[in-house]
Amino acid sequence: MGQMGQGHPASTLAMHGVTGASQARLGWYLLVVSLVVVVVVCLLLGASAWRARRRRAAAEERELVHPGGSGLAWVMVGGIIVPAIVLTATFVFTVATLHANAAPWRPPAATIRVVGHQWWWEVHYVGGSPAAEVVTANEIHVPVGEPVRLVLSSDDVIHSFWVPEIAGKMDLIPGKTNETWIAARDTGAYEGECGEYCGVQHSHMHLRLIAEPPDRFAAWLAAQRRPAATGTAPSAGAQAFFSAGCASCHTIRGTRAGGRVGPDLTHLMSRRTIAGGTLENTRGNLAAWVTDAQGLKPGARMPTLAVQPDQFQQLLGYLETLR
Ligand code: CUA
Repeated sequence: MGQMGQGHPASTLAMHGVTGASQARLGWYLLVVSLVVVVVVCLLLGASAWRARRRRAAAEERELVHPGGSGLAWVMVGGIIVPAIVLTATFVFTVATLHANAAPWRPPAATIRVVGHQWWWEVHYVGGSPAAEVVTANEIHVPVGEPVRLVLSSDDVIHSFWVPEIAGKMDLIPGKTNETWIAARDTGAYEGECGEYCGVQHSHMHLRLIAEPPDRFAAWLAAQRRPAATGTAPSAGAQAFFSAGCASCHTIRGTRAGGRVGPDLTHLMSRRTIAGGTLENTRGNLAAWVTDAQGLKPGARMPTLAVQPDQFQQLLGYLETLR
């Protein structure tokens, strides 16, 4: 469902996550049991109507009304014994699923703090010293086959973290921290959405979960840990970034840009998308986003800044150095 169309389609019936798979199994079980119950009840209703009609016709012929004596057996078997078996099995399966999803089978390989914003995802990789903390946005890398702990909170309103192929939803609630865990069973890029209406751009609050082999994940994390690879002398592009006011909302680690309102841009070019996952990260889309964020995503917190025309290309050039 993600607009980029590069990752897997967001289907809750595909089972690429450990918890998602067990939830989907329970869902299939409930669907099949419900269908069987509906079909059996309909067949019995039809049969009893047909029998009643035949009996009435026979009674009219012989002036005799003599209902069968099997009513009590039907009530015992169909009304008590069979429902008790079906509901007990459903209860046991549900509790077993809840239990299996409560905690991962081994300690999580990473802890990722996700903060919901109108309308993007702030993503922190917690570990070691605060200086080693990685901050990124909208694209969450995880090692495949490993459980990962998610710590979820919100900066404004209620959002919901949802990567349908990997796991069920978990809300991000202001003033509260929710915890859950996920584990991707297969490598790939999985589309995610905000699953709770959160304002005018709710439907443009995409995320993408990128499950990759543990060594590639470790290399990605190490690269993200580095400060921005910008030269020591401030370039004309960096000056354009600061004079346009970008630094009051965005952080670029390793520079004096330390704004906390918008996404961390330290390794902007390592992301495939911008604008809450709505645009591919190309020079053209970056230019459009900087000059007309309100036209592309009305209501977004990204303002339209007065960038001097001669500084504009330098600013774009600078953003493209943030690899
Ligand atoms: Cu965030 Cu809907």
